Amino acid sequence: MDFGPLYSERTHTMKASEIRELLKLTEKPNVISFAGGLPNPGTFPVKEVEEAVHRVLRDHAKSALQYSTTEGVASLREAVAEHLRKDGMRVHPDEVTITNGSQQGLDLLGRVFINHGDTILVANPTYLGALQSFNYFGAKYATCDSDADGIIPASVEARLVELKKNGIRPKFLYVVSTFANPSGTTISAARRRKLIEIAHAHDLMIVEDDPYGKLRFDGDAVPSMHSMDKGEGRVVYLGTFSKILVPGFRLAWSVAPIEATRKMVISKQSVDLCTNAFTQYIAADLLTGGIIDRHIPEIISLYRKKRDVMLGAMEKHFPKEGTTWTKSQGGLFTWAELPKHVNTTKMLVDAVAKDVAYVPGKSFFPEPDVGYNTMRLNFSYPPDDKIKVGIERLGGVMAEWIAKKQVLA
Ligand SMILES: Cc1ncc(COP(=O)(O)O)c(C=O)c1O
Repeated sequence: MDFGPLYSERTHTMKASEIRELLKLTEKPNVISFAGGLPNPGTFPVKEVEEAVHRVLRDHAKSALQYSTTEGVASLREAVAEHLRKDGMRVHPDEVTITNGSQQGLDLLGRVFINHGDTILVANPTYLGALQSFNYFGAKYATCDSDADGIIPASVEARLVELKKNGIRPKFLYVVSTFANPSGTTISAARRRKLIEIAHAHDLMIVEDDPYGKLRFDGDAVPSMHSMDKGEGRVVYLGTFSKILVPGFRLAWSVAPIEATRKMVISKQSVDLCTNAFTQYIAADLLTGGIIDRHIPEIISLYRKKRDVMLGAMEKHFPKEGTTWTKSQGGLFTWAELPKHVNTTKMLVDAVAKDVAYVPGKSFFPEPDVGYNTMRLNFSYPPDDKIKVGIERLGGVMAEWIAKKQVLA
């Protein structure tokens, strides 16, 4: 049968991510890949999860193996609210929705807020998965500049003024506030305060996506933008268990004012009825028992070491000429910018031929023709010795491409 004429308009506009196609190349067995974004399985607290599974089956089998409410298991929503309150956020459990990963939170925000052609403010570069979610609803983007301190408030304000002149009210500003994917940068506290002021002045909603905030290796914690919002309820906050527990549970949370939460919950009902109840009970057990809090320092110490190995190898093997990279203080990634004439998408073919891979940065920029000379490197997953060898190989490929003085296509 020919399904072609049957597909919806949305399906017709969907396209496979070019980058995912390209990354299939990197799945060759000998390739050392910095292209992934996976937590290290060595951080998974298998024994603690196993013990929690026994407790949940002993004490909560009837409800843990049942459907849950769409908004999530009450004990987990309460535990998440309590966990966030410890970080200075004012959160009521009724504002918390347990989602099937933060990726679902992004999808639900798209469903609830984005009409075809609506404008979303984003940093340049930004998380590809958010762009994919918002693209599905026909979003357009107004991009804002960012540097080592994250998105630049003046650039956000300039965009808002420009859009207003054209009669456009953006639906929200989307940011990965701490140790961003892909850039590894954190929005400074001063910038966060300024962004909240701008949001107040322009009646703007902010979506703060924060999967990595707890994975800080050095420096002082920066308060979330949600905690800086003075009761106006203009920041929707997304957090996840993927990076502080396990990604396989597919458990995350959104925090939004109650009215918006209701809309998200109605929307979620039509998608999946509810998030996996069994894993919610396990996560609630591990969170209320303090097991996750005690486990996070172990994740941090493993990733800090890997970050140091990667930055040390970059310092040793990356060409210095026109190349800069993020000295990430946390999270999973570092981000390199090469001289303007180097196209990292094309360079990937040579890198893979030398058995090393990365993600070309271009896909993280919503606009065409920018970010050709950037790349994202993941340090959480590869073993330390592979990080050293891989970075040495990559440095060699980069030196060849820098020397080529090839003009960008
Ligand atoms: C910035 C950002 N947001 C959201 C997600 C989705 O996380 P999950 O769906 O596993 O909670 C990721 C995953 O890597 C991410 O990097």
